[in-house]
Amino acid sequence: MFQTELTKRFGIRYPIVGGTMMSISTSDFVAAISNAGGLGILASAIYQSKEEFADAIDRIRELTDKPFAVNINLFPSMRPIDNSEYTDVLVDKGVSIVETSGHSVPAELCDRFKAAGMTWIHKCVGVRYAKKAISIGADMVTVVGYENGGATGKLDIATLVLVPSVIDAVDVPVIGGGGVSDGRGVAAILSLGAAGVIMGTRLMLTEECPVHDNLKQALLQATELDTMLIMRSLGATHRVWNNSAAKKCLEKEDSAADLEEILSIVAGDNARKMYSEGDLDAGVISIGQGIGLIHEIPTVKDLFDRIMEQAEESVRRLAE
Ligand SMILES: Cc1cc2nc3c(=O)[nH]c(=O)nc-3n(C[C@H](O)[C@H](O)[C@H](O)COP(=O)(O)O)c2cc1C
Repeated sequence: MFQTELTKRFGIRYPIVGGTMMSISTSDFVAAISNAGGLGILASAIYQSKEEFADAIDRIRELTDKPFAVNINLFPSMRPIDNSEYTDVLVDKGVSIVETSGHSVPAELCDRFKAAGMTWIHKCVGVRYAKKAISIGADMVTVVGYENGGATGKLDIATLVLVPSVIDAVDVPVIGGGGVSDGRGVAAILSLGAAGVIMGTRLMLTEECPVHDNLKQALLQATELDTMLIMRSLGATHRVWNNSAAKKCLEKEDSAADLEEILSIVAGDNARKMYSEGDLDAGVISIGQGIGLIHEIPTVKDLFDRIMEQAEESVRRLAE
């Protein structure tokens, strides 16, 4: 029922994009999302060398013949990433869809995406950033509202206003999200005029998501009140799960603690400990307000099938 510019252009079954998630969007999870009918996105920043990154792309292709994308990370990172080297890998491997997220895209990378004929999607949180990316060649933009898990930026525009504002301001397909965890949300975003819907938080609570069951069970109990914003004082606002580490981070920010002290809490290694060992307070993890709408842990395929059924039902109900 929902054939959109996204499904047609990429040849995917459902207009759903699995949002890039650091340490989580590995080859196997990306392939599970693509095999379930969505568009999986590999997080290149997970890989420590271009060889490992190239192997991860090969692994996706072993697991699926469906389309997938790769994210190039432009957020500041504790481990310096050479995105030019990673772009060499994208070109060598013939990756056809690239997503960028974070700060402005360096001109050199845009030129290389275009020269290689990739479809380039830029993810951002405001009209002005979307227009800037399109002016330097982005083929599509993804915008996520203030409800979303992960980086929220500085503009604090919620999804219901952000998505149509961007659609009105640009002439390329727009993927929208932030807070979408079920079929009603998908129907809402598509009815705002988006070509597709991005989901991150919802996909954390799926069977295939590579995080410890302890963490999944704890997040299953969380409500829409259980997120908070941190790192605003550093100009890097993130919406995260409000566990004790996140609260401690905010306390440190409020008391103008040293940057090192704050970074020692939010370090990626701590989050990875949560993912691999199920330690609930080792660090800080991104989670959006849509966590409150999640009540079970299905396979990605069951989730997408049910979400799309519910989206269709929502639209039918309106037409009655
Ligand atoms: C655990 C987690 C990790 C994330 N990591 C990244 C990341 O590394 N890069 C990125 O661009 N977005 C990241 N995001 C944001 C998602 O790609 C997506 O834009 C967002 O989750 C959509 O909003 P939602 O969580 O409300 O569905 C992350 C989100 C979550 C929940």
